[in-house]
Amino acid sequence: MKKKLAVLLAGTMVMASLVGCGGGDAAPADAAPAEDAAAEDAAPAEEDAAPAEEEAQTEEEVPAEDAADEAAAPAADGEAIRVGFAQVGHESDWRAANTQNYQDTFSAENGYELSFVDADNDNAVQLEAVRTFIQQEMDYICIAPIETAGWDTVLQEAQDAGIPVLIVDRSVDADASLYETQIGCDMVAEGEMAGNWLAEYLDGADANILVIEGTVGASATLGRTEGFNNIAEQHSEWKILDSQSGDFTQAGGQEVMESFIKSYSDFNVVVCQNDNEAYGAMDAMDAAGITYGVDGDVIIISFDATHDGLQYTLDGKINCNVECNPLQAEFAAEVIQKLHAGEAVDAQTVVVDQAFVAPGIESQYATTMTQEVLDGRAY
Ligand code: AHR
Repeated sequence: MKKKLAVLLAGTMVMASLVGCGGGDAAPADAAPAEDAAAEDAAPAEEDAAPAEEEAQTEEEVPAEDAADEAAAPAADGEAIRVGFAQVGHESDWRAANTQNYQDTFSAENGYELSFVDADNDNAVQLEAVRTFIQQEMDYICIAPIETAGWDTVLQEAQDAGIPVLIVDRSVDADASLYETQIGCDMVAEGEMAGNWLAEYLDGADANILVIEGTVGASATLGRTEGFNNIAEQHSEWKILDSQSGDFTQAGGQEVMESFIKSYSDFNVVVCQNDNEAYGAMDAMDAAGITYGVDGDVIIISFDATHDGLQYTLDGKINCNVECNPLQAEFAAEVIQKLHAGEAVDAQTVVVDQAFVAPGIESQYATTMTQEVLDGRAY
């Protein structure tokens, strides 16, 4: 496990921590040259990962071994801690890595009894899973919410039953008093990273952009869209031609791209809000004879930076790939261990991401891909 940095926000009502487990920096304006950033992947200078607003904050390093030990510690009374995990589904490679990470972390060996439900991207199934966990009197419930909306009632039910809830990966729009903590990546920052990279790469040239969004109503979709639009608004030479949901799946990405190809002939940028959608979009462009990537006519931006996504980036097919780190379970386990010990927990843990670009591209916002960078990735 790579080194982590927890940044404790001081002087605010809401405590939050920023942790980076993917390595590298989030590209501040004075970011290290790309080669340095690549070298940092092995031993990241995580201080650089802090966004600008952290200047007035207190930073505290948490050695990875301590966090891992804490996350793995069995309950003091020797009884397994019962955790119910209502997972989004199995829509993407990212999700598979995230599920595996939870199953590895919340193992019997580590002192847990994990009840896992794959909601198959169905809100009703996910709500039902949480209600079942409440009836089963789980010690803790983790929810990776498909959508942000619709959680107040069931969260109130869990609170009434005295079961602490952790919101993981994505976020909800329910009142924060209804759950213990939220753990996940900053999706708005991911979208802004993509936009900032595109602005740097285009250097004032026109962009006709097509966006393949993720699942409608998911915080990952809302945040990435908002972040990218924040940068797009600053560029009058950019035009977002269309934006449609591909539901974070390869089939969805392909279907949306096929329909875009029928409707538009003048696009030069495709933003896919996850790697699987990018694979589908590439299949659709291959079939239509449209070239993409560093040697092609269309710039592809993707999100997740899964192993295969970064292989495509290394191959020059995806120009820029913004990470969303799925290895988040140890932070959830850390929170549960603290709650079990009667300790206070941070209201939020932000898992810090970085961006990667294809060989031949130098960027202040991203690490240029090499085989070494790919081999050093943990998922
Ligand atoms: O919430 C994280 C997103 O959900 C990932 O980007 C995507 O691959 C997944 O389906």
